[in-house]
Amino acid sequence: MFNLLVLPGDGIGPEIMPEVKKIAHWFQRHGVDFTLDEELYGIASWKAYKTLMRDETWAKILAADAILFGATGSPEYAAIPREYQREDWLLRMRRELDLFTNLRPIRTTPGMEDASTLRPEIVGGTDMILVRELCGGLYFGSPRGIFENADGSRRGINSLVYTTSEIERIGRAAFALARSRKSRVCNVDKSNVLEVFMLWRDTIVALHAREYPDIELTHMYVDNCAMQLVRAPRQFDVIVTENLFGDILSDCAAMVAGSLGMLPSASLGAVDAKGRRKALYEPIHGSAPDIAGKSLANPCGAILSFALCLRYSLDRPDEAKHLEDAVDRVIARGVRTLDIAQAGRATVSTSQMGDAILAEL
Ligand code: NAI
Ligand code: MG
Repeated sequence: MFNLLVLPGDGIGPEIMPEVKKIAHWFQRHGVDFTLDEELYGIASWKAYKTLMRDETWAKILAADAILFGATGSPEYAAIPREYQREDWLLRMRRELDLFTNLRPIRTTPGMEDASTLRPEIVGGTDMILVRELCGGLYFGSPRGIFENADGSRRGINSLVYTTSEIERIGRAAFALARSRKSRVCNVDKSNVLEVFMLWRDTIVALHAREYPDIELTHMYVDNCAMQLVRAPRQFDVIVTENLFGDILSDCAAMVAGSLGMLPSASLGAVDAKGRRKALYEPIHGSAPDIAGKSLANPCGAILSFALCLRYSLDRPDEAKHLEDAVDRVIARGVRTLDIAQAGRATVSTSQMGDAILAEL
């Protein structure tokens, strides 16, 4: 049996994840087999157990087939003694589960073109997936830290490091994904300045020639890509890029979709001998402390993350599409949370949005 672990986390996490569970239970009732467990994570764990990560919870994280994650981050961490928060548990999960492939689908929901700050004729019809490398690059390289200089001043260091095998495995993920789409990959790097990206590009080019000659491969420098994403987003099918670049570019691309609150993500590990792989599904937004506790959060990004779980972990592409279509139809009918509100029209709460999607299913 496939076991899913829900970690609501901080801020709006505990508001959006009950909506995901409503949807998940619907699929359980309609023939999709999995178990659903839940654990406290972050501030909620601290309040209940005086630790940010219980051993029991960590054991469940390592054992789960897939994790449904809400969000992390809260002003309340400032009140927790530093020795209790040496670890960034989300980064630790990504690293220990080796979730190196982060998929971020970015599309304009039909009827929602008006929610973007960009013109509807620019964003309409956008449908791309950003493939972000998630276990290497600037977020994980060493040496790292803040060090004291002899003269008492300080210096901060992070390191951008990639090996050919790390580049190849993310490249393969992008090329394979493109085969199921429009067969186009745009590699985004900064190989005009940084050696790491000279290696990155050479490796991608060689991999493409060797294993994926059927895919159309283009290259773009990251600064140009940031501009192209808002200038002409429809030009992209699959984008593959480094960890930090992917983080920044996906928030930028989020405005094409209209709201951070609409966007899902999947973080996938390597396929093992049994054909299974570890996975974590989460909306791309954070804990949104500015709206937490007010029932304003849009649960669609988290719900669409569950659709990705249906597709990539449970191998139920038809059910995934069924859920995505249900979200589309609810949005098209004008059901909107505040972040995607239409001028002069009423908005719904977090749970009303969840209920509307459930009713549509
Ligand atoms: P954020 O994504 O939490 O919020 C950015 C803006 O978007 C805010 O105005 C927020 O209200 C809005 N927003 C986000 N999600 C929304 C939703 N579902 N519905 C409606 N509006 C939504 O990013 P921010 O403010 O930079 O960071 C807040 C906290 O979240 C920080 O502690 C940060 O470290 C953390 N964070 C966590 C992430 C994660 O859990 N993977 C990712 C990004 C940030
Ligand atoms: Mg981000």
